Amino acid sequence: MPAVKVRKEEAERAKRLLKRLGLYDGRRRPKREGEWVLLPAVGGDAIGTLGYEVLPLELPLRPERQLYKNLESILAERLSEDELKHLRRYDVIGDVAVIQIPPELEHRVDDIVWGLRRVHPFLRVIARKGFHEGKFRIRDYSIIWGEERLNTVHRENGVEIAVDLSKAFFNPRMKGERYRLAQLVKDGERVLIPFAGVLPYALVIARYRRVKITAVELNRDAYELGLENVRRNERKLRGEIEFIHGDAFKVLPELPGHDRVISPTPRGVDALALTLPKAERWLHYYDFVHEDEIAAFRRRITEECRRLGRECEVRVKKVSDFKPHVFKVCADVKLG
Ligand SMILES: C[S@@+](CC[C@H](N)C(=O)[O-])C[C@H]1O[C@@H](n2cnc3c(N)ncnc32)[C@H](O)[C@@H]1O
Repeated sequence: MPAVKVRKEEAERAKRLLKRLGLYDGRRRPKREGEWVLLPAVGGDAIGTLGYEVLPLELPLRPERQLYKNLESILAERLSEDELKHLRRYDVIGDVAVIQIPPELEHRVDDIVWGLRRVHPFLRVIARKGFHEGKFRIRDYSIIWGEERLNTVHRENGVEIAVDLSKAFFNPRMKGERYRLAQLVKDGERVLIPFAGVLPYALVIARYRRVKITAVELNRDAYELGLENVRRNERKLRGEIEFIHGDAFKVLPELPGHDRVISPTPRGVDALALTLPKAERWLHYYDFVHEDEIAAFRRRITEECRRLGRECEVRVKKVSDFKPHVFKVCADVKLG
């Protein structure tokens, strides 16, 4: 696995180029070395034609990838190479592991449980996951090992988050995204978060910044867990959180504008016209977009800004893979 060595000022541009050419290895972590940055790349001849210095260096896997690799190598004792290809990534939420098991591995459930318990001896529950359903975006789970529960306490970004996967949406893979937003927010801002769930975004931002957050959530169970989470983290929070139980489409029109609006929009819901008028300086709008539609998505936001008589700059960031060629994206909209 080669690494591309570039000066730190050039790193972002080089990373974008590698990504565009399909030569960036997102499973590994870039590494800073003084004035230089080493970018993880995939092998092949093309990498040598870009004019960068290329080192024969294996940069470390990102932690979640490393864990996955650990599971894979443990299971190599029991599963065939062909079966291992069907193994999916999994999540650990508190002491609960959730994994998707495709039909090709149906007969290997016990081995997968054995492997997960060896990688994570602290686990108390292992569940297989189905799909998100309904407007509250709750996944369908079935417990395949351990205690009969899907509630737990998850730790991320310095906060404790009580979750109940059978009652409310929670996605641990957004940890990095929540940290990114917390770093963008400035002390003193007023932040509005519709579709707030059990409050992961609000808690992480309030942990780092002295801000006033108003959050809105319709699912009563998620709302109750969110209130518990505010109490649980009270001592650690620099910011304040006001949590409203209600329908964002009814509540937001009654609220004043905020410096920043963060919309972790449920899939299939169009909340652009709802959230944009409430954002005075920034809107972070999440959606699921096919890679061929990203330019059209950006244009739609720009047009919506114009319709409201506002100037805006829009940057669309891919946050995670959703399905082949479709990404969860965040439009960072700076309003003039
Ligand atoms: C994709 S989840 C995001 C939750 C949370 N922000 C997180 O990242 O864990 C969307 C959330 O919006 C909530 N929701 C759906 N429709 C809503 C509405 N009309 N008003 C307020 N919340 C709503 C769902 O219950 C769910 O918790």
